[in-house]
Amino acid sequence: MLALFGVMIPFFSMAAQQPEIVCIQCHSTMPGKLGEPVKLWRGSIHAENGIACNACHGGDPADAANAMSPARGFLGAPKETAIPDFCGRCHVGVKNDYLASAHGRALGRGGPTCVTCHGNHLVLKASLNLINEQSCSRCHSFERARVIKAAMKETEDMIVAIDARITAYKAHGTDTGKLEKELFAVRNRFHTLFHNVDVELVRRDSAQIQDELKKIQNTLQGLDDSYRKRKIAGAVAVAGALLAALLLHVLRKTYD
Ligand code: HEC
Ligand code: HEC
Ligand code: HEC
Ligand code: HEC
Ligand code: HEC
Repeated sequence: MLALFGVMIPFFSMAAQQPEIVCIQCHSTMPGKLGEPVKLWRGSIHAENGIACNACHGGDPADAANAMSPARGFLGAPKETAIPDFCGRCHVGVKNDYLASAHGRALGRGGPTCVTCHGNHLVLKASLNLINEQSCSRCHSFERARVIKAAMKETEDMIVAIDARITAYKAHGTDTGKLEKELFAVRNRFHTLFHNVDVELVRRDSAQIQDELKKIQNTLQGLDDSYRKRKIAGAVAVAGALLAALLLHVLRKTYD
């Protein structure tokens, strides 16, 4: 994370003064393979987060004449085997998981790289939809992918449901800070599961993560119970007050 900020801060301060960098100015006018990256990139999560051409490819985004000079840090387009390091400068944890996995070990020998699954310029927010028969059966059968997806889908559904319950309590004014922090930590751990593509590991870790989610569910159940009790106590108090008012009224009538 710190490494990521290190990369991003110099970029953001530059982006503030330079809304349209020279890379985009020049490449957006070019046909075919040289212009296409600009169009694709505009719709990406990287564009949304201020990660422009030079953040990935290096070079000087403020000097058209020397933009692609290696002396200005230009890296060019990475070869297939260099892609994990290229993307991994910012996504360090993912890179390490990937390199240790069956996919990383098959790099350059038929294994997928980051862009095989995420694309290169039109990278979108990641989700379990990336695990699908069409994409994952390009090189092998879908069976192991199906097991991984099922375990992860079950866990993700739990996370989404818990998130909705916490949000509802928060809207009621309950202090949910601790629960939110717990869910955040579990969710982060969950999202590091995939790149190992190790069926047994994903199964085992999913079970552990689900145990932690069940603890959060128990805390929420406790909140539900005490909320219900308070509601009943409230209703009893209201009913009592009404009964007292009625008695008083009847008493007055009898004395009148
Ligand atoms: C004045 C026009 C111009 C500017 C400015 C410019 N480019 Fe290029 N770029 C080109 C042309 C022409 C090519 C194809 C010929 C070549 O590779 O030199 C190219 C090629 C590339 C390639 C492919 C190289 C490869 O190895 O296949 C990348 C990546 C690239 N540019 C990125 C950038 C980035 C990043 C910037 C800004 C820092 C930038 N360009 C600025 C004109 C430009
Ligand atoms: C998230 C990182 C990333 C960003 C941001 C990015 N690129 Fe690329 N670019 C790549 C990768 C990776 C490749 C190698 C593509 C491959 O092998 O699939 C590439 C390849 C290219 C090529 C060579 C295309 C070809 O097919 O030969 C050009 C030109 C290029 N990029 C220009 C740009 C321009 C211009 C921008 C800004 C609008 C940009 N890139 C932004 C990662 C990025
Ligand atoms: C200069 C830093 C940098 C480089 C290099 C980079 N990214 Fe990113 N990437 C980011 C930032 C910043 C975000 C948005 C914040 C986030 O979600 O982490 C992001 C988001 C993503 C996401 C969405 C994450 C999510 O939460 O759903 C994916 C997928 C992704 N990048 C893949 C790639 C791929 C593939 C490459 C190489 C082609 C690459 N990135 C290169 C900085 C970078
Ligand atoms: C075999 C396909 C595949 C490959 C190869 C792959 N990814 Fe992913 N990636 C996914 C899937 C599927 C998810 C969504 C997992 C989830 O929802 O928890 C994901 C999630 C992500 C995320 C968001 C979650 C997180 O941990 O931050 C980032 C960033 C990311 N990938 C970057 C990369 C990078 C960088 C590489 C290369 C080093 C890479 N991916 C290689 C399929 C792949
Ligand atoms: C470009 C080819 C390619 C694509 C696309 C691909 N894989 Fe793989 N995958 C491989 C190779 C090569 C291996 C290692 C040999 C083997 O076990 O089949 C592998 C192995 C695996 C394994 C077994 C890992 C282990 O430790 O035993 C799983 C699970 C897997 N892939 C899941 C996926 C999923 C999920 C996707 C789609 C998001 C996907 N693969 C897409 C090439 C690919």
